[in-house]
Amino acid sequence: MKGLILSGGYGTRLRPITYSHQKQLIPVANKPILFYAIEDVLEAGVEEIGIIVGPNKEQVMATVQSQDWDAEIVFIPQDEPRGLAHTILIADKFLDDEFVMYLGDNILREGIVKHANAFAGNNYDASIMLTEVENPEQFGIAELNYDGTIKRLVEKPKVPPSNLALVGIYFFKPVITDACNSIEPSWRDELEITDAIQWLIDNGYEVGWTKVDRWWKDTGKPDDILEANRLILDDLSHEILGEVNCELRGRVSVGKGTKVDENSVIKGPALIGSDCEITNGYIGPYTTIGNDCEILNSEVEDSIVMDSAKLINAGNIVDSIIGRGAIIEKNKSLPKGRKFVIGDTSWVRI
Ligand code: TTP
Repeated sequence: MKGLILSGGYGTRLRPITYSHQKQLIPVANKPILFYAIEDVLEAGVEEIGIIVGPNKEQVMATVQSQDWDAEIVFIPQDEPRGLAHTILIADKFLDDEFVMYLGDNILREGIVKHANAFAGNNYDASIMLTEVENPEQFGIAELNYDGTIKRLVEKPKVPPSNLALVGIYFFKPVITDACNSIEPSWRDELEITDAIQWLIDNGYEVGWTKVDRWWKDTGKPDDILEANRLILDDLSHEILGEVNCELRGRVSVGKGTKVDENSVIKGPALIGSDCEITNGYIGPYTTIGNDCEILNSEVEDSIVMDSAKLINAGNIVDSIIGRGAIIEKNKSLPKGRKFVIGDTSWVRI
């Protein structure tokens, strides 16, 4: 089986972070989201991976190539985000066999081995993964027949026929290319993968499904990124490589070269990268701090602070995503008041 991982798209709902970071490279628990997808695909025994790249393609390629992967990886450029089904058409030459398609902004706790085995063990032309959700109006939903087979897929239904949402990981035989070639762009001018799968169902092909047992996260919006961070930190191992002189509560991981003074408090689960300096700081539960950060007289909780950011006399920061090299500090100069230099479409709550 081959792997097709999608790392294109504009990630508009995550601006301004996505002005400088391709969405799939945003770090969750100090690892680019995309790496979780690559690891899952490798774990399923895939040896050839095609990665769809669009905006910021150089950044994606450089980040992936910065690691040794136990697979052959090729990059497939997409000129514009023309839809998930469009990526299959442009990867047509690479996809000469059955394959798993994995949206590079999805994280799945249980990996895909069980699901890949189910696809290999059945004679399906495609297999999708479904998970129960509390708000089916906000997802692509599967309606099942009485015998449990898939009847149809509906995108964000006002009256949901079930609470089974489509996860962004799909298994296909090459016939999916015929489906993608047969459908028309949707109202948003994209070739939709749900339409291609529906085409398979309507044309008598076998579409199976497997159920996701543990958590799954589509990291489309800032709150999703923070929730994915919390979910990953729930499994954090305690490991102290830096010089930590303060009280630690719960599971905490501190990287090499990081110094934490005796006046600080760290409450886990919390992950702190390497070469950071934390002085009189409070790092609260479900916080990830990148490398080379400085936290001075500041408190941060339930947040992601990316590499080289500084929080200096910054007060109490909660539920936040702080980009690389960003600085938050108390204003000591006149005129008094809050001063900002923030990117387009940022949002700040004070
Ligand atoms: P989406 O979340 O639907 O789109 P997006 O990432 O551009 O985000 P937004 O809606 O905030 O603008 O895409 C799902 C995944 O598929 C994501 O990893 C990006 C990727 N993708 C492509 O690689 N090519 C495409 O043409 C599209 C539509 C998405």
